Formats: sequence, structure tokens, C-alpha cells
Amino acid sequence: MKQSNHSLYLRLFRYSRPYVGRILAAVAASLLVAGSDVTMVRLVKPLVDNILVGGSRGLANLVPLLIIGLALVKGIGRFFQEYYIRTAGQLVVQDIRKDLYGHSLSLSMRFFSRSSVGNVMSKVLNDVGLLQTASADVLVYGARESLTLAGLIALVFYTDWKLATLAFLVLPLIVFPMAFLGKKIKQNSGRGQRAMGELTKVLQEALAGIKVIKAFGSEEYERERFVKENRKFYHFIRKVIKYDSASSPTVELVSYIGIGGVMWYGIQRVLAGSMTQGEFTSFLAAMLMMYAPVKRLTRVNNKIKQAMGSAERVFELLDEVPDIKVVPSAVSIGRARGEVQFCKVDFAYDNETVLQDFNLRINPGEVVALVGPSGGGKSTVVGLLTRFYDPQGGRILIDGQDIRMITMDSLRRNIALVDQETYLFNDSIRDNIRYGCPGASDAAVEEVARLAYADEFIRLLPDGFDQHIGDRGVRLSGGQRQRICIARAILRDAPILLLDEATSALDTESEAVVQQALSNLMKNRTTIVIAHRLSTVMHADKIVVLVKGRICEEGTHQQLLALDGVYRRLYEMQFSERF
Ligand SMILES: Nc1ncnc2c1ncn2[C@@H]1O[C@H](COP(=O)(O)OP(=O)(O)OP(=O)(O)O)[C@@H](O)[C@H]1O
Ligand SMILES: [Mg+2]
Repeated sequence: MKQSNHSLYLRLFRYSRPYVGRILAAVAASLLVAGSDVTMVRLVKPLVDNILVGGSRGLANLVPLLIIGLALVKGIGRFFQEYYIRTAGQLVVQDIRKDLYGHSLSLSMRFFSRSSVGNVMSKVLNDVGLLQTASADVLVYGARESLTLAGLIALVFYTDWKLATLAFLVLPLIVFPMAFLGKKIKQNSGRGQRAMGELTKVLQEALAGIKVIKAFGSEEYERERFVKENRKFYHFIRKVIKYDSASSPTVELVSYIGIGGVMWYGIQRVLAGSMTQGEFTSFLAAMLMMYAPVKRLTRVNNKIKQAMGSAERVFELLDEVPDIKVVPSAVSIGRARGEVQFCKVDFAYDNETVLQDFNLRINPGEVVALVGPSGGGKSTVVGLLTRFYDPQGGRILIDGQDIRMITMDSLRRNIALVDQETYLFNDSIRDNIRYGCPGASDAAVEEVARLAYADEFIRLLPDGFDQHIGDRGVRLSGGQRQRICIARAILRDAPILLLDEATSALDTESEAVVQQALSNLMKNRTTIVIAHRLSTVMHADKIVVLVKGRICEEGTHQQLLALDGVYRRLYEMQFSERF
């Protein structure tokens, strides 16, 4: 959605409100800077008229002191102005970045399944970065140069309003080309940032999937993908540079048309005796001095336009509404007993129905296994209970309470999940296990590692529990990673335990041991186990066979065998595989 510049400015302005003290201090300091510049120009007239033309020696000695004094005032003013305004800019940008990150984390899985991580990263890093450099320039020069310019303009009008009017007749000639160039800059900068987003996406995906790239020898393909996006970025940034570079000469040309007119008319008047040499020189000095602030303000204007492209992208992400809504009347439920109920749940990720009329009731402490062919919707059931997604129809209840009426925090505190995708952070083993319970003691961490049958291999590592495990835990084997995840879930000590292929990467022997640990853990906990290997779910209180989003059989192992249906076929196939 395109946002008007007006609303973008307003939103950026809102971010700067907490730092109004710094900004005012900077504006005050700008007054010193502008004041000393204008005074300096103001001195030209008496200098020429009284000293050069009038020949006053006493005043001549004062001049260097005055100039040094003014430079000192200006220097001090500049220091404080830059210091306060640049720190204010950094603080604003820091707040935006913080909000952006916090907001991204709060977005639902649906958002992440349709947008790329690289793009989000690019917004948080590149776009905010551009806002940061732009804000530094804009804030430092914006106020200061405008004030200097305003002072100089006042001075020239004060000196000779007719001459000044003549000089400013050329002003409209500046406005139109600048507006055009500004628009082009904003447009292309926005496109460039989008290309940068794609570039970050390619980079992020390639580095995360480096193993696949190497295994399939697709380095060249990836390199070309990168080069393409890199070039695209250049294509747009080149245009930004082009329009930006065109603006200074345009302003310069137009200014000199004004100055030319002033020269012509001014000289006529000095010759006619209706203006002193001092007045004319002072006027001309002011006009020439105006050139620097005008040029800087043009730059600032371009920077603003460039930053607006990024601001638009940043606010686009901030405006992304989380589709998992927590109602204001949601309650915190404390520790649940663990009764779970799915009532007539219908769910689709996009258009295709994944679960249809799904009904399941699990009593506190019961173990229910979900089995069935791949893609049947098993992980989806778990994702709905954790509210990664909300169903389109039906209700999900914990202890009889609709989970949409429970605060997210207390819902998640009641659930421990070991997912199909084991995700570990690039941190020590200890901190990975402790991830869901930051306050847990070392002893507790070691105890759960023992229960998850992980302490044995951990103790063999050079640094034991303090061993760093690399990105996503690449320095561990698949089975080792799984055991860390199980330990993490055990430590969580939640009344509802969700195990989605939690032991699939283990060999039969360690699986049996971990299974033993898990069945100890399942005591007094409501558990949903998902497993393809039926030997791990045979002892569940209830087994649910899910095919294409529908429950086609349910019962105990024995009942399902007796039923002689899908379950029995699956079971016999696995049975014959083994022996
Ligand atoms: N994030 C998603 N966006 C869109 N469709 C999805 C998403 N996740 C899963 N699906 C689709 O939903 C269906 C059910 O997927 P689900 O992961 O629940 O299956 P599963 O029973 O857990 O399979 P498996 O045994 O292979 O893990 C599949 O057809 C899949 O293509
Ligand atoms: Mg699954």
C-alpha cells in the first residue's frame, strides 16, 4: 500500500516525540550557528564603508578578534547541534528498529509462510540503516541550514528589498525541477530497497542451505542468482545517483541566473549613487553565502525522498496485522489440568482444506497418538493447538476453555513441543536446553539431559554442557539434536506435551531408551504423539488414524488391529520391513 508523504512524515515525527528535549537543544544551538553566519555577513557593510572606504584604523584592529569570536560561537553551536541532533536521530532509529523486530516476532506463522525471512531482515537492517544515515543528514543540516538561509534572506531584504525581490524572482525555477527530481529519487530508491530485500533473501537462503548447495553443486547457479539481484539493485541506485547528481547543478544554474540579475541591477544603482559600495558588497556576499545552505538543503531534500522509500517499506511491515488475535478479555489460566478438545475443527492454510470436521477429546493425563500417511494433517493438529494458526471453523478447548480466550503467554506456558524440525540456537548446549526456562539451574538442566538420554554424549564433548553447537546445531548429529530438544521440552514441565516425530532420528536402541524416559514424562501429562514408526505409539491410550485431514479410525492398538483397516495395513507393512 502506498502511503502519502504526509502520513509518513507524521509517523516519523511521532517517533521523535520522546526526544524533543534533544531536538530543541539542537535547534537552540543552530540559532548560534545561523546567528554567527548572518552576523559575519552583516559585518561586511561597516567593514567596507567605515574601514576600507572610511579608513578607521581603530576598528581595523577589532576585526580579526570579532571574526575569531564569531567562529568560536559558531564552532560551539555546531558541536552541540550535531551532538544532540545526531544522538536524537540514532535514538529514533533505534526505537523504529526495536518496534520492527518486536512486531516481526509477534506476526503469525501465516505471515512467515508467505514472506521471506531475507526480506524481513533487509527491512530491519538495510531500510532502517538508510533511514539512519538519512536522518543524520536531514536532522543535522535541515534545521541549521534552514535557519542560516532564513537569516540571510531576512538580511538581504533588510538591506535592499527591491534587489532582494529581483533575486528571488528566480525561485520558482528551482521549485519545479526539484520536485520532479525528488519524486524520481523516492521512486527509484524504493525500488532499489526492494531489490536489496531480494538480495538479502538470496544471501540468507543460500547460507542457510549451504549444505544442499554443496551437495548438488549449485554454487554457480546461486552465484548467478546473486549477481542478477546485485545488478538490479545497481540499476535503481544508479538512477538515484543520477537524479541526485542533477540537482546541485540545477540549483546552481538557477541561483546564478538570480545572482547575475542582482549584479547587473546592483551595479547600476551603485554607479547611480543610490546604493553604497558596502551595501552592494554585503548584499552580494549574502547572496553568495546563501548558495551553500541552498545546496545542502537540496541534498537534504533528496535524502528525505530517498529515505521515504525505505520508511514506506518499514511502515508496511509495522502495519502488518498479526492474524492471530488475542481478545482483550483473554484470561490467564495458570497451570491447566490438561483436558484437550477439538470440536468440529475445519482448517485450511490457503484454499485447500487440510482438516475437516476434526473432533478429538483427550482427558487429562491421556496419551493420544496421531498416525497416518504423510501430509495427512498431523502436524497441523499440533500447530492449531499451539495457535500457530487459528482454525476457520470449530473450536479448540483446553480444560473446557476456548484457546482463543486464553492469553497467548499462558497458553504457551502450558504446552511443551518437540517439533519435527529440531531447531537449535548457535549457543551452548546448556543454554539451548534452558531456552524455554531461562531461570533453570545447572543441576536441573543436567537432570533433564539425563532423562532425555543426552548427558552421555554431552559429557564426551570437549566442553561438555558448555560446548557451542554451531548454527542450527550443525555440530551435532540429527539424533543428538533431537535429544537436546526433548530435554528442552522436559525442562519446560508443561501439563500438555506435544511430540511430533520427536524420536524419529534415533536408532532403535536409543529410541527405546528415550521412549522410556518419555513415558515417564508422559505420566500425569496430556500427550499428543505423532510418529510414523508405530512401535513407538502402540502403548498410547488412543490411536487416531488421520488420512487427508479426516479421522478414519480410532481406538487402542488392539482395537485397531481387530478393525483390520488402514492401521493394520500400516502396521503389517512396518512389521514385515523389520523382520
Ligand atoms: N505452512 C503451510 N502452508 C500451506 N500448506 C501447508 C503448510 N504446512 C502444511 N501444509 C499442507 O497441509 C497438509 C498437511 O500437512 P501436515 O504437515 O499437517 O502433514 P503431516 O501429517 O504432519 O505430514 P508428515 O507426516 O509428512 O509430517 C499438507 O498437504 C501440506 O502440504
Ligand atoms: Mg508432520
